[in-house]
Amino acid sequence: MDYKKIFSQSTRKQGSSMIRELVASTRGIEGLISFAGGFPSPKTFPTKELSELYADVVKNEGCEVLQYGASEGDPVFKQALINYEIKSNLKASEIITSVGSTNAIFAYAKCFIDEGDYVICEAPSFLGTVVAFEAMGAKLQGIEVEDDGMDMVQLEVEIQKLIADNQKIKFIYTIPEFQNPTGVTMSKIKRERLIELAELYDIPILEDNPYGELRYCGQRIDSIFEIARMQNKNIVTSVKSFSKVLGPGMRSAYMMGDEVIIAKVALWMQKIIVSSDCVTQRVVGRFLERNMLDAQLQKISEIYKPSLNAMLDALEKYMPSTLKWTKPEGGMFIWITLPQDMSGDELFEAAKAEKVCFIPGSKFYPKGQEKYNAIRLNFTFADPATIEEGVKRLARLFKK
Ligand SMILES: Cc1ncc(COP(=O)(O)O)c(C=O)c1O
Repeated sequence: MDYKKIFSQSTRKQGSSMIRELVASTRGIEGLISFAGGFPSPKTFPTKELSELYADVVKNEGCEVLQYGASEGDPVFKQALINYEIKSNLKASEIITSVGSTNAIFAYAKCFIDEGDYVICEAPSFLGTVVAFEAMGAKLQGIEVEDDGMDMVQLEVEIQKLIADNQKIKFIYTIPEFQNPTGVTMSKIKRERLIELAELYDIPILEDNPYGELRYCGQRIDSIFEIARMQNKNIVTSVKSFSKVLGPGMRSAYMMGDEVIIAKVALWMQKIIVSSDCVTQRVVGRFLERNMLDAQLQKISEIYKPSLNAMLDALEKYMPSTLKWTKPEGGMFIWITLPQDMSGDELFEAAKAEKVCFIPGSKFYPKGQEKYNAIRLNFTFADPATIEEGVKRLARLFKK
C-alpha cells in the first residue's frame, strides 16, 4: 500500500521539526556545550513530592481517578486552579484542563481556523504552535518583538491592511512573559493597548503563558487575561502549563476564557483525548491544594537564577559591543541580535567547530518572514561554570 498517495492534504504539507534536526546534527560532538535545548533542568523536578502524591492518589482515590473522566477536567483539579487563579474570579465553566498547553492551543485553534484565515503572532514566536496553525491552513502575519513586547504600532497597521484586503483575522497569538524565543516580557502599557486594539477590531487574543511563574527577580505584571477580566472584557483566552514548573512529561496544563469558547474547546477535547490524564490532574490538584507550589517555584528560581546571571555576566564580559541581547528577569531564553549582515544559520555551522551550539533565530519565524541575524540561547540546562565557558567560545566565534 502506498500510503503517501492517500494522506490528507494537511498531513502531506507537514514537514519534520527543523529544530530537532539541527540539534540532532550536533550529537556526538565531544565536549559540546549546548545552549540549543528548550528542556527544563531535571534538577527542578519535584520527584520525591510527586512520587508520594501519585502513590497517595492512586491508593486513596484510585477508584475515582482510574475511571474515564470529564472532558472539561477533573473537578478537584479545576477547583484548585480556580483558587490559584483567584484574581480572575473564574467559574468552573470558564476553565478546562489539557494535555500540555499544546493540546489546549490546538483545540482553541481548531475552533477558529478555516483554510486561508489569518492568525497574527509575534515574529519571532514559538515554532511548535506556529506550525500547528499553519498545518490547519492558517496564514501567519508576524509582528516584530521590541524590548517591551509586540510592536503595537505595526500590529495596528497590519490589522488594517488585512481588513482592507478582506482577509479574516481569527486571533492574535502572544507569549507575553519571558517569551520563547526572545525572553522578552510585554509591558503593562502594551498589554492594555493590545486589549484596546483587540476590542476595536473585534479580534480575540490567545495568551500563551508557560513561563510566567518562572520569574527570578523584578516585579510581576498582571497577565493580559487578568487585565481584561478586571475590565470585564471577554476577549482574552489564556493557557498556562505545568511543564516548566513540575515537569513536561506530566503533560498538565489548563485554559481559561469565555465559557462559550471553553465549551467549544471541550467538544474538540472529547474527540481528541476524551479527557486529560485523571490521575495526573488529581495529583497536580493536591499539589496546589497542599500549598506545595510556592516552595517548588522558589526551588526553580534558586536553580535558574544563578544560570541566568552567569549568562548575562559572561555576555557582558566577553561579547563584542556590536551585539545586542535581551536581559530577561525569568524564563529560559536569551536572544542575541547580530549585525545585519551576519547569519545565525551560518554561525551555527561554524559554532560546531568551537564546540558550542544554539538555535539560529530564523527558525522561529512564520514561513517566508524569516530574519537571519539572531540566535537563541537557553540558560537552564548548563551549570554556571559551563555557561561561562560556552559564552567564551561563542565570543571567540564572533571575533573571528
Ligand atoms: C511558548 C510555548 N508555548 C507552548 C509550549 C508547549 O508546552 P507544553 O509542554 O505545555 O505543551 C512551549 C514549550 O516549550 C512554549 O515554549
